[in-house]
Amino acid sequence: MAADAAAAAMAAASLCDDLEPATARTRIRDVLAAGAARAGDRVVVGGWVRTGREQGKGSFAFLELSDGSCAATLQVIVDAAVHPLARLTATGTSVLVEGEIKEPPEGTKQNVELKVSRVLEVGEVDAAVYPLPKGKVKLTLEKLRDVVHLRSRTNTIGAVARIRHQLAYASHTFFDENGFLYVHTPIITTSDCEGAGEMFQVTTLFSQAEKTEKELRENPAPSDSEIEAAKFLVKERGDTVAQLKAAKASKQEISAAVDELNRAKEIVSKLEERSKLKPGIPHRHDGSIAFEDDFFKRQAFLTVSGQLQVETYACSLSSVYTFGPTFRAENSHTSRHLSEFWMVEPEIAFANLQDDINCAEKYVQYLCKWLLDHCREDMEFMVKNYDKSAIERLELVSSTPFVRISYTKAVELLKNVTDKKFDNKVEWGIDLASEHERYLTEDIFKKPVIVYNYPKGIKAFYMRLNDDDKTVAAMDVLVPKVGELIGGSQREERLDVLKQRILDAGLPLEPYEWYLDLRRFGSVKHSGFGLGFERMILFATGMENIRDVIPFPRYPGRADL
Ligand code: 4AD
Ligand code: MG
Repeated sequence: MAADAAAAAMAAASLCDDLEPATARTRIRDVLAAGAARAGDRVVVGGWVRTGREQGKGSFAFLELSDGSCAATLQVIVDAAVHPLARLTATGTSVLVEGEIKEPPEGTKQNVELKVSRVLEVGEVDAAVYPLPKGKVKLTLEKLRDVVHLRSRTNTIGAVARIRHQLAYASHTFFDENGFLYVHTPIITTSDCEGAGEMFQVTTLFSQAEKTEKELRENPAPSDSEIEAAKFLVKERGDTVAQLKAAKASKQEISAAVDELNRAKEIVSKLEERSKLKPGIPHRHDGSIAFEDDFFKRQAFLTVSGQLQVETYACSLSSVYTFGPTFRAENSHTSRHLSEFWMVEPEIAFANLQDDINCAEKYVQYLCKWLLDHCREDMEFMVKNYDKSAIERLELVSSTPFVRISYTKAVELLKNVTDKKFDNKVEWGIDLASEHERYLTEDIFKKPVIVYNYPKGIKAFYMRLNDDDKTVAAMDVLVPKVGELIGGSQREERLDVLKQRILDAGLPLEPYEWYLDLRRFGSVKHSGFGLGFERMILFATGMENIRDVIPFPRYPGRADL
């Protein structure tokens, strides 16, 4: 049996002997992790040169190579006899090299280095025009946003990318371990979840209008007189057919005349069709835009949240979550807002507000613990370069219960603050501003705070109305450095109350009929929340600006690439 399997494997291998042999690259992370234990091994390593310098009067070069698999670089030594050194040393050059892992001389800081025997591939760089500086010189994070296609080659953006990946992986692991199913909710939607009117529209009306206008310029629409003339021709040809029939002409003659008549009719219908082409966006008689002529035959948008759709799966599969990009056309220029950001949204059936709060706390703690266990090196980089307390914060948050306080009590606390003057006056009913949220979590409690039961007037229509008729079963998780990290609630499961809340919010019922159906058929108490994924990264790393923790930031005025 084993011999058969070996023969089959050989036969399969020989089927692709016309392919180039596999590169079989070893990641720098693995080379460094094995350390001296792998000294003497031959490996292929690829990466981009961070710094390169010729030594020994040009007889060899040191290259500091990064392949992004870890924060550290691998020191690579190339002799001049192996490759022209000047082509390798410019910052940003890519190389694929084969060599032997060696223990470096005593007293050097590397645990291993690579002595190159063959340079397999090189992607050269013209140092005079390469936008990223060499060695220890750094561009500011703000400047790096102008080279968003190259900035992942820097230590900071590389570390953020690895942390971001780990947080995504930890999120899926957390929900999987707790019995949640991952549901892909739509990006294009026809319902406004938050009812805040901050949606980007998805439409082809503009491109259609451009196309029509171009076509009309090249080939103008027929005039009324052209159409009249074509109709006249139809009449003439109709008369001819009638005359031929009356004169009992031959079948052949009649059929030829009928063909002529049909051709004339076709011309009329084409002309009439073209005469309907109008430049610009189509309008209805009352002047409003005719969305029935749009791609989806109705108005469509980019989603602001997958919540409403994920609720449909919660009301059948009980514990679910969605994790995807969300879009908000809000004109916010703060360091905490993006126009496109990622959100993790669990939704749980048979769960009330307290279950929801418990889940949120457990999830955030899990993420913090995960980073401590899986991202030490990158977190140490953050501590050294951006936020001294980043690791301490993760330790504290992962091991301490969050404060839970009602909105009403939070407002009382804020009203009594004497050591700080807020820009926004505090009184019951206001939407807490970022300065209030941060004061609660950073100054009063010095840890994450969950504020619950907010006034109904400032929260979305779907949140469950409390018995006091003044507040809703909402909760926000506030954390130091960021403010609001999570927003969630118990959902209104009572049909009549929900209908009234939609109407009170000034929204039409029609687009929400399907959502109301969930309350008509087997309605169930359920709750959920949304965690702003980039805000979680800000909180974990201590980075200051949300534009630096998403690979391709979109904000008012900017959408590069
Ligand atoms: O509080 P929000 O608006 O809640 C919802 O969208 C709910 N439908 C979620 C749910 O219950 N399933 O947004 C949730 C979180 C906020 O707490 C914040 O962390 C983040 O999303 N967020 C943003 N992050 C970056 N840029 C923006 N413009 C953001 N707006 C909200
Ligand atoms: Mg919110």
